[in-house]
Amino acid sequence: MKLGTPLSASATKVMLLGSGELGKEVIIALQRFGVEVIAVDRYENAPGHQVAHRAYTIDMTDANALKALVVKEKPHLIVAEIEALNTDALADIEREGLATVIPTVKAVQLTMNREGIRRLAAEELKLPTSPYAFAKSCDALQASIDAGIGYPCFIKPTMSSSGKGQSRVMEKSQVQAAWDYAATGGRVNQGVVIVEGQIDFDYEITLLTVRAKNVAGEIQTYFCEPIGHVQKSGDYVESWQPQGMTSNALKAAQNIAKTITDSLGGLGLFGVELFVKSDQVWFSEVSPRPHDTGMVTMCSQRLSEFELHARAILGLPVDVSLKSAGASAVIYGGIESKNLKYDGLQAALAVPCSDVRLFGKPQSFVKRRMGVALATGKNTDEARMRAKLAASLVKPCTD
Ligand SMILES: Nc1ncnc2c1ncn2[C@@H]1O[C@H](COP(=O)(O)OP(=O)(O)OP(=O)(O)O)[C@@H](O)[C@H]1O
Ligand SMILES: [Mg+2]
Repeated sequence: MKLGTPLSASATKVMLLGSGELGKEVIIALQRFGVEVIAVDRYENAPGHQVAHRAYTIDMTDANALKALVVKEKPHLIVAEIEALNTDALADIEREGLATVIPTVKAVQLTMNREGIRRLAAEELKLPTSPYAFAKSCDALQASIDAGIGYPCFIKPTMSSSGKGQSRVMEKSQVQAAWDYAATGGRVNQGVVIVEGQIDFDYEITLLTVRAKNVAGEIQTYFCEPIGHVQKSGDYVESWQPQGMTSNALKAAQNIAKTITDSLGGLGLFGVELFVKSDQVWFSEVSPRPHDTGMVTMCSQRLSEFELHARAILGLPVDVSLKSAGASAVIYGGIESKNLKYDGLQAALAVPCSDVRLFGKPQSFVKRRMGVALATGKNTDEARMRAKLAASLVKPCTD
């Protein structure tokens, strides 16, 4: 593998489709290898735009806009950093030999829609999942619940992330509202929802799984230590690494992660979301890219998930070793503003072994993730306490 000189004829060029806080860190990791990076997002001054060689704002669901930009920029690799992409255009781009899509077109196509990935995992690969059904109307939804999914259950748009449009339903009287919310809360209103029976798990994890070339040049699968996390309304608020697991549960988790990532293929890091109860493990979903709960690896591993992704996609060797027990805690905007300030950093960074990342998003909302606090500790309890304390001390304000 040879890497070129950025901004020259020999440049190794990578285009990020989606340049939020996770893309920003991937870009920084690529920049450190002298890769020329083109950051694309749907709004101006996205976090990754601010650290790339060139930045574009386009509608990435628009096939023509996407193709025109690829023809203009001629990247070697296209990294799909978000789900809301025109995947048909990506398939064309790869078929025409214009660029390689990371990790694969298939992975991007299947994971952008809960139906694709769930059917692959449960029906084709026979992985254990929650009971589920897809419904195109509220009546069909009710019928699926009555036919065996039961209560409590989760109702989600087939195309959404970060808990958008998702409800946990306890009884029949809540089904109509959940249908309405899912039908309007999804990214692209497809009029299809998934209903999942609730898994009564002890804890949930993200198993960061890396498909990277070993020194012999063969693709090998590597597992990071499991990451535990807490989700509120379908959005992650806190994560830590390592999450203790029984050896049987860890083995089952790794088997599931290997099976699903083998099937999706390509090079790169994947976030495999799993539910665990004692020795039993269920597949929930997978991101074919760094995962928000994996931000903890910026303090807990020798190489963060972003550095691992950068190395893997460039065909370079990885090292998934843990450095220290660590934790992350989300910093929300708390207020709506287009010129937010962050107070309290002196106090936050005085918390032992802590660090803070502010994403530089141009606009804040009450529940928008604007930053993350990180901390290490002698164990995850101490790290979590420190990360939560540091996050709570950062005060978004407008004056
Ligand atoms: N079937 C289920 N049983 C139990 N808990 C569930 C189930 N489905 C979802 N949850 C809970 O809701 C959270 C979010 O669900 P899911 O990951 O499907 O949504 P999402 O919108 O893709 O979120 P994200 O993009 O943040 O991963 C899960 O991490 C879990 O805590
Ligand atoms: Mg999820």
